[in-house]
Amino acid sequence: MDYQNIKLEKDGAIAILTVDRPKAFNALNSATFHEMDHALRSLKEDTRALIVTGGGEKAFVSGADIAEMATITAAQAREFSALGHHVFQSLENLPIPTIAAVNGFALGGGLELALGCDLIYASEKAKLGLPEVSLGVIPGFGGTQRLTRLVGRARAKELLFTADRIDAARAKEIGLVLDVVPAEKLMDHCREVAAKILKNGPLAVAQAKRVVEFGADQDLRSANELERQGFAVLFGSEDQREGMAAFLAKRPAAFQGK
Ligand code: CAA
Repeated sequence: MDYQNIKLEKDGAIAILTVDRPKAFNALNSATFHEMDHALRSLKEDTRALIVTGGGEKAFVSGADIAEMATITAAQAREFSALGHHVFQSLENLPIPTIAAVNGFALGGGLELALGCDLIYASEKAKLGLPEVSLGVIPGFGGTQRLTRLVGRARAKELLFTADRIDAARAKEIGLVLDVVPAEKLMDHCREVAAKILKNGPLAVAQAKRVVEFGADQDLRSANELERQGFAVLFGSEDQREGMAAFLAKRPAAFQGK
């Protein structure tokens, strides 16, 4: 597929997906979602981490495309919301770690995109928020739920009700972003985090992601059962034998993802 609104690049085992409509501050229209969906499905097994960022100087992603949404019906809004949910759920379901490099405005659907990633890092220039109520709507791509799970109900409601744009330092303070770094260092920072992860057993990293994600929606006993299963499953892997043998032999492990 020839992408018009995104870029998908490979840097070794790291894929970089850039939402790239700088003239519209990378707003998400249907065409962009379809390209993202295609890009996520096209990732091969040699991709072991994904960084998501925004093209241009100003924005990560400024939200759903307001020009596209302005005149749609309720039925079309339901479809648009379902499309966004599908893409962000696919992102969340990837068996590899995903990192949002929030390089500018992450508003509405843009913040929802970041929330679909496992780890969120922001540049000092980033501004984050869910301004939907200022447009007479609410977030439609999972923001009400993922933000609440990440920062708690009261902080989520505060952002949702006020439509405030917060800076990166404040976003870190409330646990929305993990680290804030100078703009020119953001991608390197994300690559370094990805490189650290790549040294570890890929099956184990995938299993860690799976049990955290699925466990978060369950009571503690059921969630702990998920962990027990995940732990045991890994003992059928070559990576487990290699990881432990390498430790005992005092050498670095050579994981194969098998
Ligand atoms: N949709 C469509 N176009 C957008 C856009 C969006 N979300 N955000 C910015 N743009 C466009 C602007 O229309 C403008 O285009 P023109 O040059 O053709 O006029 C261009 O990007 C630059 O924007 P501004 O001139 O407004 O630039 P600024 O620096 O003054 O402000 C901004 C930047 C703060 C991001 C501002 O553009 C803004 O507030 N954008 C809207 C943010 C927003 O409300 N997002 C939520 C959308 S609703 C949503 O996401 C719903 C959902 O969950 C499903």
